[in-house]
Amino acid sequence: MDNITSAEMTAVWRSTEPLLSCDNYSVMLASSEGKKKALDFQNHIYPLVSRHLSVRAGYIHRLANDIIKNRNIETCVSLGSGFSSLLHTLVQKEPKLVAIDTDLATVLSTRTQRLKKLNGLVDNSVLQKVKMAVVDVEEFAKQRADLAKYLGLNNRTLIMMEGLSYYLSPSAIRWVFAQCVKGPAEVLLFDYWPTAALSKSRVLRAVIKELNADCAETVTSTIDQYALKDLVAPLSLESDVSLQEAEGYISKNRQLVNLNEFVPARIAVVCR
Ligand SMILES: C[S@@+](CC[C@H](N)C(=O)[O-])C[C@H]1O[C@@H](n2cnc3c(N)ncnc32)[C@H](O)[C@@H]1O
Repeated sequence: MDNITSAEMTAVWRSTEPLLSCDNYSVMLASSEGKKKALDFQNHIYPLVSRHLSVRAGYIHRLANDIIKNRNIETCVSLGSGFSSLLHTLVQKEPKLVAIDTDLATVLSTRTQRLKKLNGLVDNSVLQKVKMAVVDVEEFAKQRADLAKYLGLNNRTLIMMEGLSYYLSPSAIRWVFAQCVKGPAEVLLFDYWPTAALSKSRVLRAVIKELNADCAETVTSTIDQYALKDLVAPLSLESDVSLQEAEGYISKNRQLVNLNEFVPARIAVVCR
């Protein structure tokens, strides 16, 4: 099968359990090729992948909602948003929120086309409210670009990167953290694969091998606990939970039990 972006498959999996993930719409933005590939990947490489993605999306959705309320967040920026409708669901709850989805130029132009499928399903004012901007994090990091200046951010901002950190080089990850140190980003919410998980989870090793063989992006980074301390140093690590804990917070039905059968990702919140 041709290499396609991981966002195609993610869009399918995150909508598999919408009650958990609070995401009914992303699957509608996936192509039929993406849907086929998502099913193939689930059948042959990672049977618990849709559970993983539904838990991740649902936990991040709830966390982002709380952060927006408790910290009076006015702007929300998603890096590498792919075909996720996370920002639409956040704007549905907080209509005053300024929301900006970002990704590579090619992904955003496909996204723009496919968003038409949500007409009539998602309120038009919500669709209009979520803006888009091209941000190639690797390029921006190389150029030491100022994200706030580029996006015109001037108020309390939450930056999110969901499903992106492992595709970034260590220097690009440092650049993302630096945007938070500078402000006006107040909070950074992201998921990552801890380096220690590589030796603990057979399925993580299989997933990396398959993604690197068959997807448009290359898995580049896991984050070890020392690197995380360094990255966070000028900021504060507010929470850092395992995917298993996240599942326990949002569901009574525990499926992510055996480390060898799922990717033991973590979800962290860092504040200025
Ligand atoms: C696994 S998908 C996650 C999509 C979405 N956040 C979600 O959770 O459904 C990874 C996304 O990161 C984007 N991406 C990869 N490298 C990137 C880069 N250098 N800059 C910006 N986005 C990038 C891909 O295009 C893709 O949309």
